[in-house]
Amino acid sequence: MFSSNDIRATFLNYFARNGHQVVPSAPLVPRNDPTLLFTNAGMVPFKNVFTGQEKRPYVRATSSQKCVRAGGKHNDLDNVGYTARHHTFFEMLGNFSFGDYFKEQAIFHAWTLLTKDFGLDKDRLLVTVYHTDDEAAGLWKKIAGLRDEKIIRIPTDDNFWKMGDTGPCGPCSEIFYDHGPGIAGGPPGSPDEDGDRFIEIWNLVFMQYEEGPPGTRVALPRPSIDTGMGLERFAAILQGKHDNYDTDTLRALILASAEATGQDPDGKFRMSHRVVADHLRSTSFLIADGVLPSNEGRGYVLRRIMRRAMRHAHLMGAAEPLMYRLVPALTRQMGQAFPELTQAEALITETLKLEENRFRAMLDRGISLLRDEAATVPTGGALSGAVAFKLYDTYGFPLDLTQDALREEQKSVDIEGFNAAMAEQKKRARAAWAGSGEAATETVWFELKEQLGGTEFLGYATEGAEAAITGLVVDGQPTDEALPGQAVALILNQTPFYAESGGQVGDTGIITGPDDLRIRITDTQKKLGELFVHLGTVEAGTARVGGTVVARVDHERRSAIRAHHSATHLLHEAMRRHLGTHVTQKGSLNAPDRLRFDISQPRPVTAEELALVEREVNARIRENAEVTTRLMTPDEAVKLGAMALFGEKYGDEVRVVTMGAPEEGTDKSAYSIELCGGTHVTRTGDIGLFRIVSEGAVSAGVRRIEALAGAAAIASVEDANRLLAEAAAVLKAQPSELPTRITQLQEDKKRLERQLSELQKKLVLSTATEFEMVGGLKLIARHVGEIPAKELRPIATDLLKGLGSGVVALISTADQKAAIAVAVSDDVSAAHGAVDLVRAAAVAVGGSGGGGNKTMAQAGGPDGGKWEAALAAIRSTITA
Ligand code: ALA
Repeated sequence: MFSSNDIRATFLNYFARNGHQVVPSAPLVPRNDPTLLFTNAGMVPFKNVFTGQEKRPYVRATSSQKCVRAGGKHNDLDNVGYTARHHTFFEMLGNFSFGDYFKEQAIFHAWTLLTKDFGLDKDRLLVTVYHTDDEAAGLWKKIAGLRDEKIIRIPTDDNFWKMGDTGPCGPCSEIFYDHGPGIAGGPPGSPDEDGDRFIEIWNLVFMQYEEGPPGTRVALPRPSIDTGMGLERFAAILQGKHDNYDTDTLRALILASAEATGQDPDGKFRMSHRVVADHLRSTSFLIADGVLPSNEGRGYVLRRIMRRAMRHAHLMGAAEPLMYRLVPALTRQMGQAFPELTQAEALITETLKLEENRFRAMLDRGISLLRDEAATVPTGGALSGAVAFKLYDTYGFPLDLTQDALREEQKSVDIEGFNAAMAEQKKRARAAWAGSGEAATETVWFELKEQLGGTEFLGYATEGAEAAITGLVVDGQPTDEALPGQAVALILNQTPFYAESGGQVGDTGIITGPDDLRIRITDTQKKLGELFVHLGTVEAGTARVGGTVVARVDHERRSAIRAHHSATHLLHEAMRRHLGTHVTQKGSLNAPDRLRFDISQPRPVTAEELALVEREVNARIRENAEVTTRLMTPDEAVKLGAMALFGEKYGDEVRVVTMGAPEEGTDKSAYSIELCGGTHVTRTGDIGLFRIVSEGAVSAGVRRIEALAGAAAIASVEDANRLLAEAAAVLKAQPSELPTRITQLQEDKKRLERQLSELQKKLVLSTATEFEMVGGLKLIARHVGEIPAKELRPIATDLLKGLGSGVVALISTADQKAAIAVAVSDDVSAAHGAVDLVRAAAVAVGGSGGGGNKTMAQAGGPDGGKWEAALAAIRSTITA
């Protein structure tokens, strides 16, 4: 018997043998299509290859693509559990030709693989073709030898496959398996085609056109092939089952659910087990691909799926959260084919557990409200919209969960009433906001956020993505278009651009679109918590609301920001280890060219401490440990050892970033554990190098460290080396000799200064004995060159001694500044105090003040050039 894993391998091997590149499944969140919620067909990742927009090094490919059909255009969520062949998650096997082979080979390969490799009985197979496709009908006859009645012509859209309203499309041919007359149901195209007898197993699409805006259909560059075979339904046929849920993989999950709940897999909770098995797959794969539960967009679809499963777990009486306990069974089944599932096992488990714990807290009360209210609704009737809204708003029951619960009793929900209650709540939120005193200029963002909801951030996983323009603001006003040269604020439905928060600066980059549209983004800011606003200028083309664009983050800048942000986490921990656990973060900046980190720390950090911290961070970088990100409750994060940041407000869930192996002797599970919404390196080694460049005070008790990481750190080492080399060249020495040489030069300088001042003193004393008579007093008033201020006083005293009675005033000038000393003999000092004289002189050189006593005083001033005026001021003060 073929297991599901055998089927996948046989399919891919067949096409690999026939010249097809085996391409791993693309992520469930499409990177190349903004209109699509989830990847929902095997061809989605190849969309741009079909249209010729993208080139790959191969023209034939095969894949087993993960698909989710929940929310958006193809939504199977409501049917899961009730039918044999609906899933929110399934795998699509396919082979693709990009302008290489066409109908004939596609039909040949499909027929050969089904009848030879998988050994299906030819007599049980029949096909459909589009009613005008004579070529395909002829080929089926020629290649498979099918009789005319087994080639059914279908005139409807069922046999014209389209990716969506726009995109590649073409006529298709479907292969059906006949379970035989024992099962009810008619062939395709007949009134009872929906029975279980004839099951579609493979769709061959002859891609020939690209559908544009309504009414425009153009031929693809070259006819191509896209095929899709649902693995689960094909497994059912090969394993002799009529129900996809009886095949190996899903049955194993159902049995795991039965074991965990103690409920018979085929008993009264048969349907609940199926819902749990299906939803376990979709939620786990979505989480592995980076979707996390939230109240917006993809995250909300995930939450809805999770909660729906959790209600069924509750119905089955599971006392403990159930879903997370089933994850090992899933990874056993599918982990080998999808390694991302095994890699993310911890994240999946924690996310499911967290969501289930939280939801269970409300579930009991919600269910009893629902039970009471539903009891008043007659069979066939509808629950009031207000109650459904209360269940949604207060108890976290997504609308479809309530509908699912009521469906079992043949009851529904008054959707109009639900929508009215929702609108009413929005109105109240608006009134509350208007009264909150937010600046009127923010009104535009409030309105856009209300209309568009939050922006989905894709930037943890990718730096480039397609997106739809959902809002444009020019000069503070919403608009539909922005023209070249205009500064614009742009909102996208999803974006890889990080909006400034948590100290990390916003991303910059380029947004491009059809008709040469090019917008340069210079900053990204977050408004009202979750609206990402891209700020920039239209460089070419016209930006239009509704237009599809490609948003690409400046990769080098983002990498540099990542390195700085991750380095900040390591720095924080190293500081706590070397300075003490009183160190907490007071502020931070993570930019492409530097980081700034403010910490609570009462005294300066010494050079030795900084060196130790720097060394430790670099050792952690060399350790090259994995950087992991998980989502959990704040309490759990604190239990894990994350630093709780007081004064910060956290939601129910926090993102926890961990780095490095734990230090011995600590009870932490990793070296650094922080609550953080920023973007980080994949491994610490990606930081490259870390260098502290300064340490200083910000305010009492807060110190600021400035540091560099990655390329910026390396550039600063290069700068330092260059300076060192230049300094060594000036001294004609080796860099290693510099400290000794500089010390020696400083000592030489001191000695020479001493000698110089001795000589100057001698010179002054030998030449300055001549005096003048001013106002009947003997006065020596002289400019004495560059003698240092402190030397003036002893010289003046010596000169006064020689003079006997009178006044000595000396002024020296060095570096533009003047220093003045005045000595007065005792007999004169009563009439002309030294302080009065020195002050008069000081004013002339721009100084003020001057100190000393009646017989000796000193002063200074900034205008050394005016020394003559200073001496004149002494003379005039004496004669005054
Ligand atoms: N793209 C085709 C489908 O999804 C094969 O059915």
